[in-house]
Amino acid sequence: MGPLLELQGVTVGYGGGDILHELDLNVEEGAITCIVGPNGAGKSTVLRVVSGLLRPRLGRLRFRGVSIAGLSPRQILRRGIVQVPQERSLFPTMTVWENVRMGAYTVHDRALVERRLQAVCESFPIVRERRHEPAASLSGGQQKIIEFARAMMLDPSLVVLDEPSMGLDPKTRTTVFDTIRAMNQAGRTILLVEQNARSGLGLASHGIVMESGRIRLEGLGSAVLGNPEIGRLYLGASA
Ligand SMILES: Nc1ncnc2c1ncn2[C@@H]1O[C@H](COP(=O)(O)OP(=O)(O)OP(=O)(O)O)[C@@H](O)[C@H]1O
Ligand SMILES: [Mg+2]
Repeated sequence: MGPLLELQGVTVGYGGGDILHELDLNVEEGAITCIVGPNGAGKSTVLRVVSGLLRPRLGRLRFRGVSIAGLSPRQILRRGIVQVPQERSLFPTMTVWENVRMGAYTVHDRALVERRLQAVCESFPIVRERRHEPAASLSGGQQKIIEFARAMMLDPSLVVLDEPSMGLDPKTRTTVFDTIRAMNQAGRTILLVEQNARSGLGLASHGIVMESGRIRLEGLGSAVLGNPEIGRLYLGASA
């Protein structure tokens, strides 16, 4: 069995020169893979390629061994790859319940939507507790959890998360990371970009350090975290 997701020789930019240079990256089924690296390294660009928002100029992109290069974002969603973006993405004036339901807007089987809502409420009790409240009335961390819950409405096999802990205090960050671990234990493969390298690599089974559109180092999350060179370059003393 090959990796769940495979990027091979991916070269891509935004029109003004390449940002990723012949990037090779594998995501193993069942793993938590975490990409870290400085601002502008190309981390979000990798995620945009995976979700079909950006089309590689060169290289291969495979999911379950099948090419997904050239598929639209909607077709990629349908394959079971769901991304939670870096910025807040709930509809602020809509209720928590409406937001979560919206996650299944492409699913037309009503009974299936109801079953998924039940399952999501069991995994994320906050969805039921705050169901009637507008999303904007929740804290940043609570909104992130609701975004995860909304993503679960598509029953994804690969969950792609761009900097989920951005702007959160340490306690809330722990809650968000616990939720990521729980989604993984429920059988979802996770591809995560994290600015907080210590938390991200601590959670990850596989760690990847990117710099200037290339992979600088990769290995077991704990090994990457423990690498003295990386510690000095990317983690700093206080990260
Ligand atoms: N829409 C865009 N148009 C043109 N250039 C872009 C665009 N988005 C990103 N870039 C450039 O691509 C490079 C990589 O950006 P990317 O967003 O992937 O970095 P990142 O590693 O996610 O950084 P951060 O940690 O700040 O989120 C940067 O030099 C950036 O300026
Ligand atoms: Mg980014």
